Amino acid sequence: MAKVLIATEKPFAAAAVSQIKSVFDDAGYEVFLLEKYEDKADLLKAVADVDALIIRSDKVTPEVIETGKNLKIVVRAGAGYDNVDLAAASAKNVVVMNTPGQNSNAVAELAIGMMIYQARGQFNGKSGTEIKDKSLGILAYGNVGKIVAKLGMAFGMQVFAFDPFVSAADIQKDGVEVVNSIGDLFAKCNYVSLHIPANDQTKKSINYALMSKMPAAAAVVNTARKEVIDEDGLLKMYADRDDFVYISDVAPDCAAEIAEKFPGRFYFTPKKMGAQTAEANVNAGIAAAKQIVNFLEKGDKTFQVNK
Ligand code: 3PG
Repeated sequence: MAKVLIATEKPFAAAAVSQIKSVFDDAGYEVFLLEKYEDKADLLKAVADVDALIIRSDKVTPEVIETGKNLKIVVRAGAGYDNVDLAAASAKNVVVMNTPGQNSNAVAELAIGMMIYQARGQFNGKSGTEIKDKSLGILAYGNVGKIVAKLGMAFGMQVFAFDPFVSAADIQKDGVEVVNSIGDLFAKCNYVSLHIPANDQTKKSINYALMSKMPAAAAVVNTARKEVIDEDGLLKMYADRDDFVYISDVAPDCAAEIAEKFPGRFYFTPKKMGAQTAEANVNAGIAAAKQIVNFLEKGDKTFQVNK
């Protein structure tokens, strides 16, 4: 009987856990649940004996892979897999997958929600601004970016996108204007919403040179990863431009300095909240469970990311 560990420091909604368990019950698998753990030793202990692992932003280090002697597959229930050491997994023939698209709507709704929250002065009783008629830049045009674009258009925003990996025709068919460079995107848009993964090419790539191109009333909205922002550039942008705000899920390392020097010009979620809806948890969790069963039973490697 295959053993599966669901290890989520930030737990799924209860409905998701029960639906994940029922997929594994049908397959005759044994399920172990490790939630809200504070010590990585707890994860190491729990992973020691299992064949498969479902995680969220939980860190899968070489030590986790090494300790999971029977581990055959890790599924990151979500999109970004920068928390998984792919090289360590590949070295031990452990398949790593994500569940692309399953939590995208939740993240996109949060991006728009945070824009409105900040535009309305975080509901402080004073006159705010509207997002209608403002320009919105989407970087990049993947599962989340696409939905943010659609929602932005529904709010009457003028929407632009930049994505070197998506054809102009595929972007234009959604009614979104294509720009030819990342610099153009920042130069045109009051709001730039980030939907890039964190990797060697993108870390610290959102820098002062880009942000300083933005027109008046500039807001960078980050529901991607905090690591993609160059924080020195961010602080310089704050200092140079009193019309600039940064809205992020989650806080940058320099959050305390921003809070002290630039009050009212930021909003940071206390914990990563983008995918934290019951619907997203159910979608991503069930997808992860089915991918594990399909892999263990039929060798199906669709969605493998360490190839
Ligand atoms: C993702 O990459 O899918 C999102 O950032 C969600 O992360 P989470 O599962 O930790 O909420």
